[in-house]
Amino acid sequence: MKPFTNKSFLKLLDFTGDEIEYLVDLALKMDGYKDRGGPCAGKNAALIFEKTSTRTRCAFEVACADLGINTVYLDSSTSQLGKKESVKDTARVLGAMFDAMCYRGFGQERVETLAEYSGIPVWNALTNESHPTQIIADFAVIKKTFGTLKGVNLVYFGDARYNMGNSLMVGAAKTGMNFTACCPKEYMPSDELVSLCKEMSLRNGGSVNFTEDPKEAAKIADVIYTDVWVSMGEPDEVWSKRIKDLLPYQVNMDVINSSNVKIVLHCLPSFHNLETDIGLNVYKKFGLKELEITDEVFEKFSGSIFEEAKFRLLSIKAIILATLTPDDHDPFDKN
Ligand code: CP
Ligand code: NVA
Repeated sequence: MKPFTNKSFLKLLDFTGDEIEYLVDLALKMDGYKDRGGPCAGKNAALIFEKTSTRTRCAFEVACADLGINTVYLDSSTSQLGKKESVKDTARVLGAMFDAMCYRGFGQERVETLAEYSGIPVWNALTNESHPTQIIADFAVIKKTFGTLKGVNLVYFGDARYNMGNSLMVGAAKTGMNFTACCPKEYMPSDELVSLCKEMSLRNGGSVNFTEDPKEAAKIADVIYTDVWVSMGEPDEVWSKRIKDLLPYQVNMDVINSSNVKIVLHCLPSFHNLETDIGLNVYKKFGLKELEITDEVFEKFSGSIFEEAKFRLLSIKAIILATLTPDDHDPFDKN
């Protein structure tokens, strides 16, 4: 089963649970995989980043190099995108020059427009609403740990309305996991997405749940997931309310000690100490040394958290291979 050829990878809602799991399984086999002279060799990919990135950009650059794909990096400060040229026009220009592109930026509609007007596969490298390549990496770590996705209890602490909460909920609902968002009600994904995911999870043997009680959530968790409280592109003014609302949902040792959790995951970057400019500014203003996760928990579970970061490369390589090779190409058949 490989229905990805020449398709874009824009959001998990576009794929079935089996298709998502196919990519997870392929990512699990990608360690050390290189095929610089294979079917991707000589292709060209544009990597568009309207927001900053360490993991995702490096994963795309290294994955492309390992598959023989030439890359051109574009950001908003050095290209016409946004200020002087519309997304639609940019799509038509790049579509004529490249075989594929990735896009990181703001609204989901931008990446959807790029795919619609470029006519080439577009990979979503993060939008406000979704971060699908991250989920393939996260689920690879979960499957490696538990041997399955089905029935695994994934609890998300924090702002579940943004890209990570949305995408984890959709991915879990598609693959039969039990997803719980642990946050104040206003930080839940939209009612529309929650009811769609509830329906899908019923069909796939999982569930979608919500609680405002961190101890109750911790009790059921096999995997605890958290992300920053203020995402890229949000104004600094939101910190004060976020801290007030989300501090009770910090992943700290009280949460861990109330649970039998096996792994903690964080997409990174994370504010778990004072070694970042933003972390230091928040400390000066609000007196908090650690935010969404404490340093103790972060270091205790650093094995799973940094394995997740490593899987960004492996999962992006899997996605590129699946979308840019013909349906009958077996990456492991060297004949
Ligand atoms: N997790 C993630 O997407 O990291 P970057 O912002 O560094 O790409
Ligand atoms: N929610 C975070 C995810 C970073 C990978 C952000 O959008 O900044």
